Amino acid sequence: MTSTPSIQSFILAAGLGTRMRSETIKVLHPLLGKPMIGHVVDAARGSGCQRVVSVLGHQRHEVQALLDGRDDADALQVAVQEEQNGTAHAVWSARQFLDNEFEYTAILCGDVPNMDAETLRSFFEAAIDSGAPVSVMTAELDDPASYGRIVRGRSGGVEAIVEYADATGEQRKIREINAGIYLVQTTFLADALAAIMDRPADNAQNEYYLTDLIALGAGQGGVFGWSVDRPELIQGVNTRVDLARATDFARRRINRQWMLRGVTFIDPKRTTVETEVELASDVVLYPDVTLAGCTSIDSGTTVEPGCVVRDASIGAGVHLKAHCYITDGRVDDGSNIGPFAHLRPGADIGRGCKVGNFVEVKKARLDDGAKAGHLTYLGDAHVGEEANIGAGTITCNYDGEKKSQTEIGPGAFIGSNSSLVAPVTVGRQAYVGAGSVITDDLPDRSLGVARGRQRTIEDWLDRKQKK
Ligand code: UD1
Ligand code: MG
Repeated sequence: MTSTPSIQSFILAAGLGTRMRSETIKVLHPLLGKPMIGHVVDAARGSGCQRVVSVLGHQRHEVQALLDGRDDADALQVAVQEEQNGTAHAVWSARQFLDNEFEYTAILCGDVPNMDAETLRSFFEAAIDSGAPVSVMTAELDDPASYGRIVRGRSGGVEAIVEYADATGEQRKIREINAGIYLVQTTFLADALAAIMDRPADNAQNEYYLTDLIALGAGQGGVFGWSVDRPELIQGVNTRVDLARATDFARRRINRQWMLRGVTFIDPKRTTVETEVELASDVVLYPDVTLAGCTSIDSGTTVEPGCVVRDASIGAGVHLKAHCYITDGRVDDGSNIGPFAHLRPGADIGRGCKVGNFVEVKKARLDDGAKAGHLTYLGDAHVGEEANIGAGTITCNYDGEKKSQTEIGPGAFIGSNSSLVAPVTVGRQAYVGAGSVITDDLPDRSLGVARGRQRTIEDWLDRKQKK
Protein backbone atom coordinates (compact mmCIF):
# COMPACT_ATOMS: atom_id res chain seq x y z
CA MET A 1 0.00 0.00 0.00
CA THR A 2 1.35 3.40 -0.90
CA SER A 3 -1.12 5.64 0.87
CA THR A 4 -3.83 4.44 3.23
CA PRO A 5 -7.19 4.51 1.47
CA SER A 6 -10.04 6.30 3.20
CA ILE A 7 -12.50 4.08 5.09
CA GLN A 8 -15.93 4.79 6.52
CA SER A 9 -18.01 2.25 8.37
CA PHE A 10 -21.69 1.42 8.59
CA ILE A 11 -23.04 -0.15 11.74
CA LEU A 12 -26.25 -2.11 11.32
CA ALA A 13 -28.37 -1.47 14.36
CA ALA A 14 -31.98 -0.99 13.28
CA GLY A 15 -33.37 -4.32 14.36
CA LEU A 16 -35.46 -4.94 17.45
CA GLY A 17 -33.56 -8.01 18.53
CA THR A 18 -36.68 -10.11 19.01
CA ARG A 19 -34.72 -13.02 20.42
CA MET A 20 -33.63 -10.86 23.40
CA ARG A 21 -37.31 -10.71 24.51
CA SER A 22 -36.87 -7.23 25.90
CA GLU A 23 -38.47 -3.80 25.99
CA THR A 24 -35.04 -2.45 25.07
CA ILE A 25 -33.63 -2.99 21.61
CA LYS A 26 -30.71 -5.36 21.38
CA VAL A 27 -27.89 -2.92 20.62
CA LEU A 28 -28.79 -0.81 23.69
CA HIS A 29 -28.25 -3.72 26.05
CA PRO A 30 -25.13 -2.96 28.03
CA LEU A 31 -22.08 -5.14 28.08
CA LEU A 32 -19.99 -4.19 31.13
CA GLY A 33 -21.79 -0.90 31.50
CA LYS A 34 -21.59 0.23 27.87
CA PRO A 35 -24.38 -0.41 25.35
CA MET A 36 -23.30 -2.89 22.70
CA ILE A 37 -23.43 -0.31 19.95
CA GLY A 38 -21.03 1.87 21.96
CA HIS A 39 -18.46 -0.93 21.84
CA VAL A 40 -18.89 -1.24 18.08
CA VAL A 41 -18.55 2.52 17.50
CA ASP A 42 -15.39 2.49 19.66
CA ALA A 43 -13.89 -0.32 17.58
CA ALA A 44 -14.79 1.38 14.30
CA ARG A 45 -13.30 4.69 15.39
CA GLY A 46 -10.24 3.00 16.91
CA SER A 47 -9.57 1.13 13.68
CA GLY A 48 -9.30 4.42 11.80
CA CYS A 49 -12.75 4.85 10.22
CA GLN A 50 -13.08 8.58 9.76
CA ARG A 51 -16.84 8.46 9.42
CA VAL A 52 -19.18 6.05 11.20
CA VAL A 53 -22.75 5.78 9.98
CA SER A 54 -25.18 3.95 12.27
CA VAL A 55 -28.28 2.53 10.62
CA LEU A 56 -31.06 2.96 13.15
CA GLY A 57 -34.72 2.01 13.30
CA HIS A 58 -36.33 0.83 16.52
CA GLN A 59 -35.74 3.21 19.46
CA ARG A 60 -33.55 5.31 17.26
CA HIS A 61 -33.97 8.42 19.40
CA GLU A 62 -32.44 6.59 22.36
CA VAL A 63 -29.51 5.43 20.25
CA GLN A 64 -29.14 8.88 18.72
CA ALA A 65 -28.94 10.44 22.20
CA LEU A 66 -26.20 8.03 23.10
CA LEU A 67 -24.23 8.88 19.95
CA ASP A 68 -24.76 12.62 20.48
CA GLY A 69 -23.29 12.34 23.95
CA ARG A 70 -19.94 11.05 22.69
CA ASP A 71 -16.83 13.21 22.41
CA ASP A 72 -16.44 12.15 18.77
CA ALA A 73 -20.08 12.93 17.82
CA ASP A 74 -18.82 15.03 14.87
CA ALA A 75 -17.59 11.90 13.12
CA LEU A 76 -20.85 10.02 13.67
CA GLN A 77 -23.77 10.02 11.25
CA VAL A 78 -27.11 8.30 11.28
CA ALA A 79 -29.30 6.75 8.60
CA VAL A 80 -32.83 5.56 9.28
CA GLN A 81 -34.26 2.22 8.21
CA GLU A 82 -37.97 2.55 8.91
CA GLU A 83 -38.85 -1.08 8.27
CA GLN A 84 -36.35 -3.84 8.85
CA ASN A 85 -36.30 -5.81 5.64
CA GLY A 86 -32.91 -7.39 6.06
CA THR A 87 -29.24 -6.53 6.31
CA ALA A 88 -28.90 -5.49 2.64
CA HIS A 89 -31.94 -3.27 3.01
CA ALA A 90 -30.28 -1.74 6.09
CA VAL A 91 -27.20 -0.76 4.09
CA TRP A 92 -29.47 0.42 1.29
CA SER A 93 -31.13 2.78 3.77
CA ALA A 94 -27.75 4.47 4.19
CA ARG A 95 -27.00 4.66 0.47
CA GLN A 96 -26.78 8.46 0.61
CA PHE A 97 -23.41 7.86 2.30
CA LEU A 98 -22.13 5.67 -0.54
CA ASP A 99 -20.43 8.65 -2.18
CA ASN A 100 -16.94 9.13 -3.54
CA GLU A 101 -15.61 10.55 -0.32
CA PHE A 102 -14.53 7.16 1.02
CA GLU A 103 -12.82 4.56 -1.10
CA TYR A 104 -13.88 1.72 1.20
CA THR A 105 -16.94 1.08 3.32
CA ALA A 106 -16.69 -1.32 6.24
CA ILE A 107 -19.92 -2.93 7.39
CA LEU A 108 -20.18 -3.95 11.02
CA CYS A 109 -23.02 -5.34 13.07
CA GLY A 110 -24.23 -3.55 16.18
CA ASP A 111 -24.64 -6.91 17.87
CA VAL A 112 -21.01 -8.03 17.66
CA PRO A 113 -19.63 -6.13 20.66
CA ASN A 114 -16.27 -7.79 21.28
CA MET A 115 -14.66 -7.08 17.93
CA ASP A 116 -11.73 -4.80 18.73
CA ALA A 117 -9.99 -2.03 16.83
CA GLU A 118 -6.70 -3.93 16.34
CA THR A 119 -8.39 -6.94 14.76
CA LEU A 120 -10.46 -4.69 12.51
CA ARG A 121 -7.33 -2.84 11.41
CA SER A 122 -5.54 -6.09 10.54
CA PHE A 123 -8.59 -7.20 8.56
CA PHE A 124 -8.77 -3.90 6.68
CA GLU A 125 -5.05 -4.01 5.81
CA ALA A 126 -5.25 -7.58 4.51
CA ALA A 127 -8.49 -6.84 2.66
CA ILE A 128 -7.06 -3.77 0.94
CA ASP A 129 -3.84 -5.62 0.04
CA SER A 130 -5.91 -8.40 -1.54
CA GLY A 131 -7.35 -5.96 -4.07
CA ALA A 132 -10.69 -7.81 -3.94
CA PRO A 133 -13.81 -5.64 -4.28
CA VAL A 134 -15.35 -7.35 -1.28
CA SER A 135 -13.78 -8.95 1.76
CA VAL A 136 -15.48 -10.82 4.55
CA MET A 137 -14.29 -11.81 8.00
CA THR A 138 -14.85 -15.47 8.80
CA ALA A 139 -14.19 -17.85 11.67
CA GLU A 140 -13.99 -21.61 12.17
CA LEU A 141 -16.30 -22.63 14.98
CA ASP A 142 -16.70 -25.96 16.74
CA ASP A 143 -20.37 -25.11 17.04
CA PRO A 144 -21.31 -22.94 14.04
CA ALA A 145 -24.86 -22.61 15.44
CA SER A 146 -27.10 -20.45 13.24
CA TYR A 147 -24.42 -18.29 11.66
CA GLY A 148 -24.31 -17.92 7.89
CA ARG A 149 -22.06 -20.57 6.31
CA ILE A 150 -19.09 -19.73 4.08
CA VAL A 151 -19.22 -21.75 0.87
CA ARG A 152 -15.83 -22.19 -0.81
CA GLY A 153 -15.22 -23.50 -4.32
CA ARG A 154 -12.83 -26.27 -5.42
CA SER A 155 -9.91 -23.84 -5.53
CA GLY A 156 -10.65 -22.66 -2.00
CA GLY A 157 -12.04 -19.26 -2.99
CA VAL A 158 -15.11 -17.91 -1.18
CA GLU A 159 -18.08 -18.28 -3.49
CA ALA A 160 -21.14 -17.52 -1.39
CA ILE A 161 -22.64 -17.22 2.06
CA VAL A 162 -25.65 -19.36 2.80
CA GLU A 163 -27.84 -18.38 5.71
CA TYR A 164 -28.57 -21.14 8.20
CA ALA A 165 -32.29 -20.98 7.45
CA ASP A 166 -31.62 -21.55 3.76
CA ALA A 167 -28.78 -24.05 4.07
CA THR A 168 -28.97 -27.69 3.07
CA GLY A 169 -28.02 -30.39 5.54
CA GLU A 170 -24.59 -30.63 3.88
CA GLN A 171 -24.06 -26.86 4.05
CA ARG A 172 -25.01 -26.78 7.72
CA LYS A 173 -22.02 -29.05 8.37
CA ILE A 174 -19.66 -26.28 7.23
CA ARG A 175 -17.82 -24.91 10.23
CA GLU A 176 -16.51 -21.73 8.64
CA ILE A 177 -19.03 -18.96 9.34
CA ASN A 178 -19.74 -15.37 8.38
CA ALA A 179 -18.77 -12.97 11.15
CA GLY A 180 -20.96 -10.27 9.64
CA ILE A 181 -18.03 -7.90 9.14
CA TYR A 182 -17.12 -6.77 5.64
CA LEU A 183 -14.87 -4.33 3.82
CA VAL A 184 -16.19 -3.37 0.41
CA GLN A 185 -15.04 -0.94 -2.26
CA THR A 186 -17.64 1.78 -2.01
CA THR A 187 -18.43 1.88 -5.75
CA PHE A 188 -18.81 -1.90 -5.85
CA LEU A 189 -21.08 -1.79 -2.82
CA ALA A 190 -23.37 0.81 -4.37
CA ASP A 191 -23.77 -1.26 -7.55
CA ALA A 192 -24.11 -4.63 -5.83
CA LEU A 193 -26.74 -3.32 -3.42
CA ALA A 194 -28.79 -1.93 -6.27
CA ALA A 195 -28.69 -5.41 -7.82
CA ILE A 196 -29.74 -7.14 -4.58
CA MET A 197 -32.57 -4.68 -4.00
CA ASP A 198 -33.73 -5.01 -7.58
CA ARG A 199 -34.77 -8.63 -7.29
CA PRO A 200 -37.23 -10.31 -4.95
CA ALA A 201 -36.09 -11.27 -1.47
CA ASP A 202 -36.48 -14.90 -2.34
CA ASN A 203 -35.24 -16.78 0.70
CA ALA A 204 -36.42 -18.47 3.89
CA GLN A 205 -36.70 -15.18 5.80
CA ASN A 206 -38.04 -13.05 2.91
CA GLU A 207 -35.32 -10.51 3.66
CA TYR A 208 -32.81 -8.70 1.52
CA TYR A 209 -29.58 -10.40 2.54
CA LEU A 210 -26.33 -8.48 2.61
CA THR A 211 -24.65 -11.85 2.40
CA ASP A 212 -25.68 -11.97 -1.28
CA LEU A 213 -22.87 -9.48 -1.87
CA ILE A 214 -20.48 -12.39 -1.71
CA ALA A 215 -21.90 -14.31 -4.66
CA LEU A 216 -21.94 -11.06 -6.63
CA GLY A 217 -18.33 -10.33 -5.67
CA ALA A 218 -17.24 -13.86 -6.53
CA GLY A 219 -18.48 -13.24 -10.07
CA GLN A 220 -16.55 -9.98 -10.37
CA GLY A 221 -12.93 -9.92 -9.28
CA GLY A 222 -13.25 -12.34 -6.39
CA VAL A 223 -13.93 -12.30 -2.66
CA PHE A 224 -11.27 -12.20 -0.01
CA GLY A 225 -12.07 -14.30 3.06
CA TRP A 226 -10.08 -13.38 6.15
CA SER A 227 -10.30 -15.84 8.99
CA VAL A 228 -10.01 -14.59 12.55
CA ASP A 229 -8.30 -17.01 14.92
CA ARG A 230 -10.15 -15.96 18.09
CA PRO A 231 -13.83 -16.81 17.57
CA GLU A 232 -14.83 -14.97 20.77
CA LEU A 233 -14.15 -11.69 18.98
CA ILE A 234 -16.84 -12.25 16.39
CA GLN A 235 -19.53 -13.71 18.62
CA GLY A 236 -22.88 -12.18 17.68
CA VAL A 237 -25.39 -11.51 20.43
CA ASN A 238 -28.91 -12.63 19.60
CA THR A 239 -30.13 -13.93 22.96
CA ARG A 240 -29.43 -13.29 26.65
CA VAL A 241 -27.40 -16.49 26.66
CA ASP A 242 -25.15 -14.95 24.00
CA LEU A 243 -24.99 -11.71 25.99
CA ALA A 244 -23.78 -13.53 29.09
CA ARG A 245 -21.14 -15.33 27.06
CA ALA A 246 -19.98 -12.10 25.40
CA THR A 247 -19.88 -10.36 28.79
CA ASP A 248 -17.78 -13.17 30.21
CA PHE A 249 -15.24 -12.77 27.43
CA ALA A 250 -15.17 -8.97 27.78
CA ARG A 251 -14.69 -9.29 31.54
CA ARG A 252 -11.77 -11.66 31.15
CA ARG A 253 -10.17 -9.39 28.56
CA ILE A 254 -10.51 -6.22 30.65
CA ASN A 255 -9.32 -7.89 33.84
CA ARG A 256 -6.32 -9.36 32.06
CA GLN A 257 -5.36 -5.90 30.77
CA TRP A 258 -5.53 -4.48 34.31
CA MET A 259 -3.50 -7.37 35.69
CA LEU A 260 -0.77 -6.67 33.14
CA ARG A 261 -0.84 -3.05 34.33
CA GLY A 262 -0.27 -4.00 37.95
CA VAL A 263 -3.68 -4.62 39.49
CA THR A 264 -4.12 -7.74 41.65
CA PHE A 265 -7.32 -9.74 41.16
CA ILE A 266 -7.69 -12.43 43.80
CA ASP A 267 -10.18 -14.21 41.50
CA PRO A 268 -10.61 -12.44 38.15
CA LYS A 269 -13.58 -14.60 37.15
CA ARG A 270 -15.57 -13.10 39.99
CA THR A 271 -14.63 -9.44 39.68
CA THR A 272 -16.39 -7.07 37.30
CA VAL A 273 -14.64 -3.94 36.09
CA GLU A 274 -16.69 -1.93 33.62
CA THR A 275 -15.13 -0.42 30.54
CA GLU A 276 -14.74 3.20 31.71
CA VAL A 277 -13.14 2.41 35.08
CA GLU A 278 -9.57 3.62 35.75
CA LEU A 279 -7.26 1.74 38.10
CA ALA A 280 -3.74 2.50 39.30
CA SER A 281 -1.07 -0.07 40.03
CA ASP A 282 -1.11 -2.06 43.26
CA VAL A 283 -4.84 -1.85 43.60
CA VAL A 284 -6.06 -5.17 45.05
CA LEU A 285 -9.51 -6.43 44.09
CA TYR A 286 -11.16 -9.29 45.94
CA PRO A 287 -13.87 -11.53 44.46
CA ASP A 288 -17.45 -10.30 44.04
CA VAL A 289 -16.37 -6.71 43.60
CA THR A 290 -18.14 -4.59 40.97
CA LEU A 291 -16.50 -1.39 39.79
CA ALA A 292 -18.93 0.49 37.59
CA GLY A 293 -19.40 3.68 35.61
CA CYS A 294 -16.64 6.29 35.73
CA THR A 295 -15.04 4.96 38.88
CA SER A 296 -11.34 5.60 39.46
CA ILE A 297 -9.16 4.00 42.12
CA ASP A 298 -5.68 5.18 42.99
CA SER A 299 -2.63 3.10 43.85
CA GLY A 300 -2.38 0.71 46.74
CA THR A 301 -6.07 0.67 47.52
CA THR A 302 -7.68 -2.61 48.57
CA VAL A 303 -11.29 -3.45 47.79
CA GLU A 304 -12.64 -6.38 49.77
CA PRO A 305 -15.39 -8.80 48.72
CA GLY A 306 -18.88 -7.63 47.98
CA CYS A 307 -18.13 -3.96 47.36
CA VAL A 308 -20.05 -2.13 44.63
CA VAL A 309 -18.45 1.14 43.57
CA ARG A 310 -20.12 3.25 40.90
CA ASP A 311 -19.06 6.65 39.53
CA ALA A 312 -16.82 7.19 42.53
CA SER A 313 -13.31 8.46 42.96
CA ILE A 314 -11.28 6.48 45.48
CA GLY A 315 -7.84 7.74 46.52
CA ALA A 316 -4.56 5.94 47.22
CA GLY A 317 -4.02 3.54 50.07
CA VAL A 318 -7.71 3.37 50.90
CA HIS A 319 -9.12 0.25 52.52
CA LEU A 320 -12.65 -0.55 51.41
CA LYS A 321 -13.63 -3.38 53.73
CA ALA A 322 -16.19 -5.96 52.68
CA HIS A 323 -19.68 -5.06 51.43
CA CYS A 324 -19.48 -1.31 50.92
CA TYR A 325 -21.91 0.33 48.50
CA ILE A 326 -20.56 3.56 47.04
CA THR A 327 -22.21 5.69 44.38
CA ASP A 328 -21.11 9.06 43.08
CA GLY A 329 -18.86 9.80 46.04
CA ARG A 330 -15.24 10.56 46.79
CA VAL A 331 -12.83 8.99 49.27
CA ASP A 332 -9.43 10.56 49.79
CA ASP A 333 -6.10 8.86 50.48
CA GLY A 334 -5.58 6.54 53.41
CA SER A 335 -9.16 6.36 54.59
CA ASN A 336 -10.75 3.26 56.01
CA ILE A 337 -14.30 2.46 54.91
CA GLY A 338 -16.67 -0.30 56.01
CA PRO A 339 -17.39 -3.12 56.36
CA PHE A 340 -21.01 -2.46 55.33
CA ALA A 341 -20.73 1.29 54.74
CA HIS A 342 -23.07 3.11 52.37
CA LEU A 343 -21.66 6.21 50.67
CA ARG A 344 -24.39 7.89 48.67
CA PRO A 345 -24.15 10.73 46.16
CA GLY A 346 -22.21 13.67 47.47
CA ALA A 347 -20.33 11.74 50.14
CA ASP A 348 -16.90 13.37 50.27
CA ILE A 349 -14.53 11.65 52.65
CA GLY A 350 -11.19 13.38 53.37
CA ARG A 351 -7.79 11.87 54.08
CA GLY A 352 -7.26 9.39 56.87
CA CYS A 353 -10.92 9.23 57.81
CA LYS A 354 -12.76 6.28 59.22
CA VAL A 355 -16.30 5.39 58.18
CA GLY A 356 -17.19 2.17 59.89
CA ASN A 357 -19.89 -0.47 59.78
CA PHE A 358 -23.50 0.49 59.12
CA VAL A 359 -22.62 4.12 58.51
CA GLU A 360 -24.53 5.93 55.78
CA VAL A 361 -23.21 9.17 54.34
CA LYS A 362 -25.10 11.39 51.90
CA LYS A 363 -24.13 14.87 50.67
CA ALA A 364 -21.72 15.19 53.53
CA ARG A 365 -18.10 16.24 53.74
CA LEU A 366 -15.82 14.67 56.34
CA ASP A 367 -12.64 16.68 56.71
CA ASP A 368 -9.31 14.91 57.17
CA GLY A 369 -9.09 12.54 60.09
CA ALA A 370 -12.79 12.62 60.97
CA LYS A 371 -14.24 9.37 62.31
CA ALA A 372 -17.70 7.84 62.31
CA GLY A 373 -17.11 4.30 63.43
CA HIS A 374 -20.52 2.68 63.84
CA LEU A 375 -24.24 2.83 63.07
CA THR A 376 -24.52 6.44 61.98
CA TYR A 377 -26.35 8.58 59.45
CA LEU A 378 -24.63 11.71 58.19
CA GLY A 379 -26.73 13.55 55.61
CA ASP A 380 -26.36 17.18 54.50
CA ALA A 381 -23.51 17.65 56.93
CA HIS A 382 -20.01 19.00 57.28
CA VAL A 383 -17.77 17.29 59.80
CA GLY A 384 -14.56 19.14 60.74
CA GLU A 385 -11.07 17.68 60.99
CA GLU A 386 -10.48 15.00 63.58
CA ALA A 387 -14.06 15.19 64.83
CA ASN A 388 -15.34 11.97 66.39
CA ILE A 389 -18.88 10.85 65.73
CA GLY A 390 -20.04 8.32 68.32
CA ALA A 391 -21.97 5.15 67.56
CA GLY A 392 -25.59 5.66 66.64
CA THR A 393 -25.37 9.38 65.82
CA ILE A 394 -28.06 10.65 63.48
CA THR A 395 -28.19 13.96 61.67
CA CYS A 396 -31.92 14.69 61.51
CA ASN A 397 -31.71 16.48 58.18
CA TYR A 398 -35.31 16.20 57.02
CA ASP A 399 -38.37 17.73 58.68
CA GLY A 400 -40.81 16.25 56.22
CA GLU A 401 -40.56 19.24 53.89
CA LYS A 402 -37.00 20.35 53.48
CA LYS A 403 -33.44 19.22 54.08
CA SER A 404 -31.25 21.20 56.50
CA GLN A 405 -27.55 21.29 57.16
CA THR A 406 -25.57 20.10 60.19
CA GLU A 407 -22.17 21.69 60.94
CA ILE A 408 -19.81 19.83 63.24
CA GLY A 409 -16.64 21.73 64.10
CA PRO A 410 -13.11 20.37 64.00
CA GLY A 411 -12.19 18.20 66.96
CA ALA A 412 -15.81 17.97 68.14
CA PHE A 413 -16.91 14.85 70.02
CA ILE A 414 -20.44 13.58 69.51
CA GLY A 415 -21.43 11.12 72.23
CA SER A 416 -23.12 7.88 71.21
CA ASN A 417 -26.76 7.66 70.27
CA SER A 418 -27.23 11.41 69.76
CA SER A 419 -29.60 13.12 67.36
CA LEU A 420 -28.51 16.41 65.84
CA VAL A 421 -31.66 18.18 64.68
CA ALA A 422 -30.74 20.29 61.67
CA PRO A 423 -30.18 23.10 61.02
CA VAL A 424 -27.71 22.99 63.88
CA THR A 425 -24.06 23.77 64.55
CA VAL A 426 -21.76 22.00 66.96
CA GLY A 427 -18.76 24.27 67.60
CA ARG A 428 -15.07 23.53 67.39
CA GLN A 429 -13.98 21.00 70.05
CA ALA A 430 -17.50 21.04 71.50
CA TYR A 431 -18.86 17.91 73.20
CA VAL A 432 -22.26 16.33 73.01
CA GLY A 433 -23.25 14.04 75.89
CA ALA A 434 -24.34 10.55 74.87
CA GLY A 435 -28.02 10.12 74.16
CA SER A 436 -28.65 13.84 73.54
CA VAL A 437 -31.15 15.38 71.17
CA ILE A 438 -29.39 18.59 70.15
CA THR A 439 -31.66 21.30 68.78
CA ASP A 440 -29.68 24.44 69.68
CA ASP A 441 -26.26 25.47 68.39
CA LEU A 442 -23.31 24.62 70.66
CA PRO A 443 -20.49 27.16 70.98
CA ASP A 444 -16.84 26.14 70.61
CA ARG A 445 -15.43 24.05 73.47
CA SER A 446 -18.84 23.74 75.18
CA LEU A 447 -20.69 20.61 76.33
CA GLY A 448 -24.26 20.01 75.32
CA VAL A 449 -26.33 17.44 77.20
CA ALA A 450 -29.99 17.07 76.35
CA ARG A 451 -31.58 14.01 77.92
CA GLY A 452 -33.55 12.96 81.00
CA ARG A 453 -31.54 12.87 84.23
CA GLN A 454 -30.95 9.45 85.73
CA ARG A 455 -32.96 8.53 88.84
CA THR A 456 -31.56 5.68 90.92
CA ILE A 457 -33.80 3.88 93.39
CA GLU A 458 -31.72 2.02 96.00
CA ASP A 459 -32.78 -1.52 97.03
CA TRP A 460 -35.62 -1.43 94.56
CA LEU A 461 -35.75 -5.20 94.08
CA ASP A 462 -35.87 -5.94 97.81
CA ARG A 463 -38.89 -3.66 98.22
CA LYS A 464 -40.63 -5.16 95.22
CA GLN A 465 -40.18 -8.70 96.50
CA LYS A 466 -41.56 -7.81 99.95
CA LYS A 467 -44.89 -6.74 98.45
C1 UD1 B 1 -26.23 -12.05 10.23
C2 UD1 B 1 -25.77 -12.60 8.87
C3 UD1 B 1 -25.12 -13.96 9.10
C4 UD1 B 1 -23.96 -13.83 10.08
C5 UD1 B 1 -24.41 -13.15 11.37
C6 UD1 B 1 -23.20 -12.78 12.20
C7 UD1 B 1 -27.26 -11.76 7.13
C8 UD1 B 1 -28.41 -12.08 6.24
N1 UD1 B 1 -26.89 -12.72 7.97
O1 UD1 B 1 -27.22 -12.92 10.74
O2 UD1 B 1 -24.65 -14.49 7.87
O3 UD1 B 1 -23.42 -15.09 10.34
O4 UD1 B 1 -25.11 -11.91 11.10
O5 UD1 B 1 -23.53 -12.30 13.47
O6 UD1 B 1 -26.70 -10.69 7.01
N2 UD1 B 1 -30.29 -5.29 11.08
C9 UD1 B 1 -30.77 -4.09 10.63
N3 UD1 B 1 -31.81 -4.07 9.76
C10 UD1 B 1 -32.39 -5.22 9.31
C11 UD1 B 1 -31.89 -6.46 9.78
C12 UD1 B 1 -30.83 -6.46 10.67
O7 UD1 B 1 -30.27 -3.03 11.00
O8 UD1 B 1 -33.33 -5.11 8.51
C13 UD1 B 1 -29.16 -5.29 12.03
C14 UD1 B 1 -29.55 -5.87 13.38
O9 UD1 B 1 -30.04 -4.85 14.24
C15 UD1 B 1 -28.24 -6.46 13.88
C16 UD1 B 1 -27.49 -6.80 12.60
O10 UD1 B 1 -28.13 -6.08 11.55
O11 UD1 B 1 -27.51 -5.54 14.64
C17 UD1 B 1 -27.51 -8.30 12.28
O12 UD1 B 1 -28.86 -8.72 12.16
P1 UD1 B 1 -29.33 -10.12 12.78
O13 UD1 B 1 -30.79 -10.22 12.56
O14 UD1 B 1 -28.80 -10.29 14.13
O15 UD1 B 1 -28.63 -11.13 11.75
P2 UD1 B 1 -28.14 -12.60 12.06
O16 UD1 B 1 -29.30 -13.50 12.01
O17 UD1 B 1 -27.32 -12.60 13.28
MG1 MG C 1 -27.06 -11.28 14.85
